[in-house]
Amino acid sequence: MLIIRSARIDDAATLCAAEQAIAETPGRLISRPEELRLEAFVSLIEKLSGGAGCYLVAEDNGACVGHALLNPMELIALAHVYRLTIVVHPGHSGKGIGTALMRSICEWATCSPQVHKIELLVRSTNERALSLYRKFGFVEEGRLRDHVRLPDGSYIDEVSMGWFPVRADA
Ligand SMILES: CC(C)(COP(=O)(O)OP(=O)(O)OC[C@H]1O[C@@H](n2cnc3c(N)ncnc32)[C@H](O)[C@@H]1OP(=O)(O)O)[C@@H](O)C(=O)NCCC(=O)NCCS
Repeated sequence: MLIIRSARIDDAATLCAAEQAIAETPGRLISRPEELRLEAFVSLIEKLSGGAGCYLVAEDNGACVGHALLNPMELIALAHVYRLTIVVHPGHSGKGIGTALMRSICEWATCSPQVHKIELLVRSTNERALSLYRKFGFVEEGRLRDHVRLPDGSYIDEVSMGWFPVRADA
């Protein structure tokens, strides 16, 4: 059974390994595999789970199958904007796990008054991710041309998308 729960420090190695595996496919994640370091996963889980944001894990029968996080921008003037990252682990895409994670992320944001906006960047070639974000009401705000350089020297665009939580008291 699929459950969505808060990330724990002892998830860090699994989440890091999953991102490293996905990053082996050029253009899927922005980071290259060697740029994804365990220490960074540990400190981000600590930061976000400690109240600064949201870090969720999808678990199926005890195994981590995906994760998603909302990380607030650093500057005071931008601190109402949270950057979304979502990753369904290799072998588990296309089974509704991304949808389940997005639903929980959007619910958390809607219940968190400090979140005014969620932003993300997605490679323009990632049709599945674009479909998922549109399904949850994310709107394209711009296109960053040749933003990502692939190992073969070619470039791909990134699409910037945004979403605003709608609250009953708004
Ligand atoms: C992109 C990603 C998060 C989507 O999660 P997922 O669990 O595979 O997605 P779901 O099964 O919940 O499907 C979500 C939607 O994607 C779309 N979709 C599913 N399979 C698709 C396919 N083969 N092609 C295009 N769109 C597809 C559909 O709109 C689907 O919604 P629907 O089933 O209601 O029609 C996931 O595949 C992933 O993490 N991939 C690798 C890392 C990555 O690309 N992260 C995003 C970087 S910005």
